[in-house]
Amino acid sequence: MKVLILSFSNNLVNEESFIPNKIGLTFSCVEECEKQLSLLEHEVEHICINKKSIKKCIACGKRGWGICAEEHICIQKDDFNEIYKYMEEFDSYVFITPVYFHEMSESAKTFFDRLKRCDAFNNNSKIKKKKIICIACAGGSGSGTEETLKAFDTLNYFLGTEMVGRIPVTKDNFKDQKEIIEKSINLFGE
Ligand SMILES: Cc1cc2nc3c(=O)[nH]c(=O)nc-3n(C[C@H](O)[C@H](O)[C@H](O)COP(=O)(O)O)c2cc1C
Repeated sequence: MKVLILSFSNNLVNEESFIPNKIGLTFSCVEECEKQLSLLEHEVEHICINKKSIKKCIACGKRGWGICAEEHICIQKDDFNEIYKYMEEFDSYVFITPVYFHEMSESAKTFFDRLKRCDAFNNNSKIKKKKIICIACAGGSGSGTEETLKAFDTLNYFLGTEMVGRIPVTKDNFKDQKEIIEKSINLFGE
């Protein structure tokens, strides 16, 4: 089975580049998922969306509807369409975001805004019915993980995907949550 991990953590290391925050919680979850998936002999790929150019949705058409609702492609020229098309090649997805201000990160919101618009009304969608795991990585308080996961519930509804893991993670509970990550990943194979 082919599994795509999309992560949404920012870490500005110099003026030109964003890289995944390798000491951060989001990246630790990416590594854990890669490890668990490889143990089960799944093919796994990771894309850090923060390294890509994804502009905000401009709600380009009449009354707020864009061509994406009918043509299932975005008119903007950036990395979005390529990633959307590439997602078709995978059987399941893991979405991992930090929690900022009780929400998913800005890059996650921007990406999923456009994914929803392109895919929600796509009867030929290759994403629908596929399994997803959503992980919300928060700071010490863990506040906002539930709101973030609720937003993923909404995303899951509009994408028509099947959520098999809905996982709140903080630095303090990460060790324990590895077991939940493992159990959720096992559900990809069922
Ligand atoms: C702008 C900003 C807002 C944040 N808001 C929250 C929050 O609402 N709740 C929370 O528990 N942690 C919050 N945090 C902490 C991050 O969720 C936490 O540090 C997380 O581990 C960041 O992911 P990373 O380790 O991959 O960088 C915030 C951090 C930043 C930078």
